[in-house]
Amino acid sequence: MCGIVAYIGEKQAYPILLEGLKRLEYRGYDSAGISVINSSLQTVKKKGKVSELESVAILSDLHGNIGIGHTRWATHGKPDDLNAHPHLSGDGSLSLVHNGIIENYATIKQALIDRGHTFKSETDTEVLIHLIEEYKKTDALSLEHALTKALTKVVGAYAIVVIDKNNPNELIAARKSSPLVLGIGDNEFFIASDASPIIQYTKKVVYLNDEEIVIAKNDGTFTIKNIHNEIQEPDIKELDLKIDQLEKGGYDHFMLKEIFEQPTTIAESMRGRLNANEGWVSLGGFDQFQNRIHHAKRIIFVACGTSWHSALIAEYLIEDLARIPVEVEYASEFRYRNPILSEDDLVIAISQSGETADTLAALEIAKERGALLYGIVNVVGSSIARITDCGSYIHAGPEIGVASTKAFTSQLVVLILMALKLGNKRGTISDAKFRELLYGLESVPAKVQEILAQSDKIKYIAQEIKDRQNALYLGRGINFPVALEGALKLKEISYIHAEGYPAAEMKHGPIALIDENMPVFVIATNASAHEKIASNIQEVKARKGLVIAIVSEGDTTISKIADYTFEIPYIEEQLTPLLSVIPLQLLSYYISVMRGCNVDQPRNLAKSVTVE
Ligand code: M6R
Repeated sequence: MCGIVAYIGEKQAYPILLEGLKRLEYRGYDSAGISVINSSLQTVKKKGKVSELESVAILSDLHGNIGIGHTRWATHGKPDDLNAHPHLSGDGSLSLVHNGIIENYATIKQALIDRGHTFKSETDTEVLIHLIEEYKKTDALSLEHALTKALTKVVGAYAIVVIDKNNPNELIAARKSSPLVLGIGDNEFFIASDASPIIQYTKKVVYLNDEEIVIAKNDGTFTIKNIHNEIQEPDIKELDLKIDQLEKGGYDHFMLKEIFEQPTTIAESMRGRLNANEGWVSLGGFDQFQNRIHHAKRIIFVACGTSWHSALIAEYLIEDLARIPVEVEYASEFRYRNPILSEDDLVIAISQSGETADTLAALEIAKERGALLYGIVNVVGSSIARITDCGSYIHAGPEIGVASTKAFTSQLVVLILMALKLGNKRGTISDAKFRELLYGLESVPAKVQEILAQSDKIKYIAQEIKDRQNALYLGRGINFPVALEGALKLKEISYIHAEGYPAAEMKHGPIALIDENMPVFVIATNASAHEKIASNIQEVKARKGLVIAIVSEGDTTISKIADYTFEIPYIEEQLTPLLSVIPLQLLSYYISVMRGCNVDQPRNLAKSVTVE
């Protein structure tokens, strides 16, 4: 969603801000803007891509050593030049960028209108900068104190940065429920909504906590305070991120790069966490709270989108291998439905970004009610990683494509390890099964590589499907969530309407859709339900549907009835989602490219959904 970048120091701000906005493009946005201070405050804003902003910025004088930049994903007001950030105070002296939503903006706006303020945009953000201006003038406060006062009056989420043309020596930023990182350079500071615009300048960062305010000055000093004006000790961290992880590295798109990275990222997620020969699994996050985790009466997963699909797979695994009851919740529903929770519950949040607003809110409710919170997160230092009592990073590296691919398989690795560790500790799986699955896991990177080597076959199938308007995805058991994931991948990047179903549910409605125009993708790798899946395929064929089946190598039954089959290497059934999802990811990618869609930044979507 929206992205923020800000700079103060000895360098020219504009090129840093522009480059930073390009790094933030992956988050999803529909307009962009920049303010810098030189002899006055210069602001340019433009609907559309950063490149469009660049082409108008060239006409302005944007030199100066302090500035703020923003990519906006519209919430209040359409995407246009006026609603784009930065927003200015009524007298034009203050400029503000904002991520999040000010929920009580309408009431504040009316009060400000009554006091003579006029507004140019439809946004909640413009209300906030006018409120700061109002306190600055009527209460004769410094910018810092006016901003602090304004933040105590607003309800909602914010990450903001403000500059004042009358004081080009400092920039002020604050956050609540929306991420913000301070980068510390030599006599210079960077502020951004994630580390991607900062990494090429410095590795020293501070992740701001909720209701913290940072004042960064061009004399090389900075101060962090809380909203009660108390100085906070900064927790300076070293970024473990390399610039080439943020580049396409020769691939046409980030999504393709991320699909092809999976042999490596899956291996990274396992590194140091298992040894099949010695028969052990180690998950650091477990150790601290192992008693509570092993004796949890119930596990509740909260997540959204692809991460929710991972949780559904974990439900099969944990119930099967560790015999602990599992519930899987959409975080957005869980947070509003007065859930019954106790100290005996383990609540596990799964999130690539670690910033998904609904997942964070669900955790806050679970925390209030005494449950133990575990985070399975990709982005190091993210809000979910910090709010949870314990957890495991998935170590997939930065995922830039909006469609989640490598994060999904790395989440599965951690979840499989978790199920195995619990099952082993609780004595609910045999030692032989435990080791068999560990050996199976160790074989996954090479098997994913084998699948990727056959990408031309997938390209061929994509060619056959690319002009269809609808698609069905069917799977059974542990591969039912893979069907959901395949459908989500297709619809989000190619805009083909797609639905995932448990194969047996087809007869309860979706079968009515099947005719010669309906492609049906069937994940047919489950040995335990092979005959039943073959029957489902017969039912589709009897109605002239086009069947594309993902099968295990050597399957001769299904290849006789399906129109197209794609073989994946043999693996234990519990581990099949790690392989069966790969051809579906590739297929969505190729179809999207063939349809001329924007693969990495699909319309209307944001990488990290930081508002509810
Ligand atoms: O960062 P998170 O894992 O919490 O994000 C959850 C969803 O927004 C995300 O998985 C989304 O569905 C992806 N676009 C799917 O590809």
